[in-house]
Amino acid sequence: MKHYLSISDLKNLQEAVKEGIELKSDPFSFDQLGKRKTICLLFFNNSLRTRLSTQKAASNLGLNTMVMNFGSEGWQLEYNDGVVMDAGKSEHIREAAKVVSQYADIVAIRAFAGLIDREQDEAEVVLNGFLEHATIPVVNMESSVAHPLQALADAITLEEHKTVERPKVVLSWAPHPKALPHAVANSFINMMKLQDAEFVITNPVGYDLNPKITEGCRIVNDQEKALENANFVYVKNWSSYRDYGRVLHQNRDWMMTSEKLGGANFMHCLPVRRNVVVEDAVLDSNQSLVIDQADNRTWAAQLVLKRILKESQ
Ligand code: CP
Repeated sequence: MKHYLSISDLKNLQEAVKEGIELKSDPFSFDQLGKRKTICLLFFNNSLRTRLSTQKAASNLGLNTMVMNFGSEGWQLEYNDGVVMDAGKSEHIREAAKVVSQYADIVAIRAFAGLIDREQDEAEVVLNGFLEHATIPVVNMESSVAHPLQALADAITLEEHKTVERPKVVLSWAPHPKALPHAVANSFINMMKLQDAEFVITNPVGYDLNPKITEGCRIVNDQEKALENANFVYVKNWSSYRDYGRVLHQNRDWMMTSEKLGGANFMHCLPVRRNVVVEDAVLDSNQSLVIDQADNRTWAAQLVLKRILKESQ
């Protein structure tokens, strides 16, 4: 694997999941692979899980890690060519990406959607800027439209907890006071398309995701109906795609409760707002897989870094 930008870079999801589970049972089996090599993690947005799990994965592989909160500590970057840079932007991506490439062997980027301009978000200017101008492999730690490390961790979690060959998995929208990006839901959907499962998306009217991503998926606006006989319920908020980046309404009755969940397992990528997105009783029950999902972020990242290091040997 040269870069990891989307779940499709894995080629075979089932093999990747198996490899992730193997790494989990023997974390230091490739601890020489990254020796004398460095990964640079650049954060344009906040993180807990992505930052620490990727750092832990790198350490397990013998990689050195450099972390920079680029959004608050770096120079403001210009991404357009031919610009007279006499305003707020101090450095161009052309130089910044090449400079980082001298200090590191892999660069990983987190840069969320701005949720103002759909076209600009879908152009993935930060991720693609590094992809174009860096000379080292690039890893997506959540971009405007995708969070493939999360999706891989979720696939590992599903595999570890499924009790039937073809489970029913429901992705349910949930209320949230702030406008959130579509990246987690998008990558979860792309991952589910590669699974042998009954997959249903449920969201209120007005919250349909990008139709290019949901193409071929069953979308149900009645949450109760969608949740019937579910084995796994993945809950996530996202802002409107049609009225781009807007919170149309709070729909508090879409919050996940124990009653709605029934006997299903509960999944969420975290961080989660208790008693807004999901009630305490669900998170505190043994049906919640959120801590397992967070654990699997390490093995997902380790698998990706292992494959990139092997490719560059
Ligand atoms: N799920 C996830 O990506 O968590 P962080 O935003 O804390 O990294």
